[in-house]
Amino acid sequence: MSEGGQKDQGAREVLDAINWEDLRAKAVEVQSRAHAPYSGFFVGASLLGDDGVVYVGANVENASYGLTICAERNAIAAAVAAGTRRFTALAVVTPAKKAATCCGACRQVLAEFPPSFPVLCFTNGGDEIMTSVTELLPYAFGPGHLDGDGG
Ligand code: THU
Repeated sequence: MSEGGQKDQGAREVLDAINWEDLRAKAVEVQSRAHAPYSGFFVGASLLGDDGVVYVGANVENASYGLTICAERNAIAAAVAAGTRRFTALAVVTPAKKAATCCGACRQVLAEFPPSFPVLCFTNGGDEIMTSVTELLPYAFGPGHLDGDGG
């Protein structure tokens, strides 16, 4: 699932089965509720759980700056709090000119919940990148390492 690259048939079928329009709409809706008074950079994330529910998150900034939580991590937290830890797809919208991919901290948090799933990073202006958790963070350190199974 690389940016514009060849996708194998199985990966295409997985992507085609996802209602990306619904995920896009939910990401844009929650983006408007971001608390981003310092950066002015509003981000929305919609995360499809394997329970069929879409969990959403927006970035929440703080006057002490470093406590900012990204939209993606807030969506993960909402899903986990609801009892869902396996995911089918993630869509993230930013107001950037070119599609912005998830920050390093979010990549690590996404990798906490295998198996990998597709990630659509798009902008309000129409640019986008279709990728996946594995592509965003190859060779991730994950829970499997602690279990001794190597990954
Ligand atoms: N941000 C996200 O919410 N997700 C990303 O993928 C990139 C960055 C937020 C953090 C901060 O509130 C603002 O965007 C600017 O970095």
